[in-house]
Amino acid sequence: MMKPTDSCFSGYHVCFTFLQVIALASTSQNLMVTTPTGHLVARVGGQAELSCQVSPPRSVESMEVRWLRSDNYKLVYQYRGGHHGVNGEAAPEYANRTVFVKEAIGKGKVALRIHNITISDDGPYQCLFNDSGFSDVVSMNLSVAAFGLKTQIHVESSANDEPSVGCFTEGWFPQPRMEWRDSQGEVVPYSSLSYFQDEDRFFRIKMTLLLRNQSQKSITCCVLNPLTGEEKQTNLILPSKYSVMRG
Ligand SMILES: *[C@@H]1O[C@H](CO)[C@@H](O)[C@H](O)[C@H]1NC(C)=O
Ligand SMILES: *[C@@H]1O[C@H](CO)[C@@H](O)[C@H](O)[C@H]1NC(C)=O
Ligand SMILES: *[C@@H]1O[C@H](CO)[C@@H](O)[C@H](O)[C@H]1NC(C)=O
Ligand SMILES: *[C@@H]1O[C@H](CO)[C@@H](O)[C@H](O)[C@H]1NC(C)=O
Ligand SMILES: *[C@@H]1O[C@H](CO)[C@@H](O)[C@H](O)[C@H]1NC(C)=O
Repeated sequence: MMKPTDSCFSGYHVCFTFLQVIALASTSQNLMVTTPTGHLVARVGGQAELSCQVSPPRSVESMEVRWLRSDNYKLVYQYRGGHHGVNGEAAPEYANRTVFVKEAIGKGKVALRIHNITISDDGPYQCLFNDSGFSDVVSMNLSVAAFGLKTQIHVESSANDEPSVGCFTEGWFPQPRMEWRDSQGEVVPYSSLSYFQDEDRFFRIKMTLLLRNQSQKSITCCVLNPLTGEEKQTNLILPSKYSVMRG
């Protein structure tokens, strides 16, 4: 009678290799890539950290990790782990703005820090891990926000010489919400609203209000960034000849 251990022992080397392959295949099957930050918000001029990790935790020091833009497949950064050789060429717009964060690489956590964020960094990204027998990817969205600094409000004349008040603001991203409010904080419907986007994709907006039917002593122009919830208010005391026009 031949015991199973005998057959294993007689082909010791083959058997050992076979078990190694099984062990590798089973850990790879259970391994997956995750991100703690599926949706990130960063400010223009600030930085963003695109974090990825394998679960269950395990060193990824020898793996290849790539960050890509998933809308245009541009390479943002490549870490080649144990593999030596020529690194992938990051897209020039990312070339000198990234830092690979690997303090916790032994626990399977890595991150890519992108400095000097611009509006063109807004979009979907992917983090891809690749090793012999294992490949997985996780997606994340980076939303970029800009808060306008300049807001001007003044009385002007509309096309048919009617007195109106205009509020002009610029430097926003994404498209802000804008409204007039009276001194009690009630919304006053605007007369016109026009949006422009400059070549760097910042929004410029002009909102007007005809003064003909207004009885307000003052009016406030409110601009809200829908992404961050930040609001800017600019107030104008109306000349008394306009504040008594109702009726
Ligand atoms: C990145 O930095 C290097 C060295 O300072 C420079 O030669 C290269 O032109 C820079 N690349 C970009 C796209 O700015
Ligand atoms: C950030 O980008 C702006 C515009 O591209 C550039 O003028 C500035 O030098 C950059 N700052 C850093 C710290 O890279
Ligand atoms: C993963 O790496 C192997 C070599 O180790 C390569 O042949 C394969 O194309 C890579 N897969 C992806 C999705 O990059
Ligand atoms: C990223 O945004 C797209 C489009 O809005 C959405 O379909 C997707 O679920 C988002 N992904 C994540 C990871 O939040
Ligand atoms: C001003 O009020 C009158 C009467 O209430 C109304 O008919 C008119 O449409 C109003 N005009 C504007 C610009 O709101």
